[in-house]
Amino acid sequence: MEFNTQGAMTHFAFLYIVPPALALLAMIAAARAEEKEGPEPSMVYNNACRTCHSMKEGDNRQGPSLHGVVGRKAGSLAGFQFSPSMQNSGIVWDEATLDKFIADPDQVVNGNGMKPYGGIDDADQRKEIIAFLKSISGK
Ligand code: HEC
Repeated sequence: MEFNTQGAMTHFAFLYIVPPALALLAMIAAARAEEKEGPEPSMVYNNACRTCHSMKEGDNRQGPSLHGVVGRKAGSLAGFQFSPSMQNSGIVWDEATLDKFIADPDQVVNGNGMKPYGGIDDADQRKEIIAFLKSISGK
């Protein structure tokens, strides 16, 4: 009887190589799908805000999650330690207050803890960021 090496190899591959490889591919696909969920962040947001802020709900990092920030009372998000200045600012974030805050945080909330952040002078860039913040706030 002839020993069929190729057949044995194929058998081996289907038992031990293909299933884990498929499982891995499925995991990668699932991770990709998760990343793709929700709106694509704008480039300026990525560069200026994303180091400190997540757009995922409940994901507070150095800064609070910005998911749902438009329409939210400043400093009110549970699970994040805001500065007293932010908590007592009385602001409800909308396009106008966000625009001023992104341009110059200290001018809007004196003594805020969003540091180091230099402010964005370019009105178009601020507009782009605010449009993105609205999109992750369901607005
Ligand atoms: C260096 C880190 C850092 C960067 C960069 C940064 N932030 Fe923040 N942000 C914070 C921290 C910390 C707070 C909390 C401040 C406080 O409690 O006074 C905050 C607070 C905020 C708040 C108030 C949120 C709330 O729930 O009241 C908004 C809005 C905000 N940031 C938007 C932005 C945007 C938009 C950008 C980019 C243009 C940005 N931040 C860049 C750290 C950062």
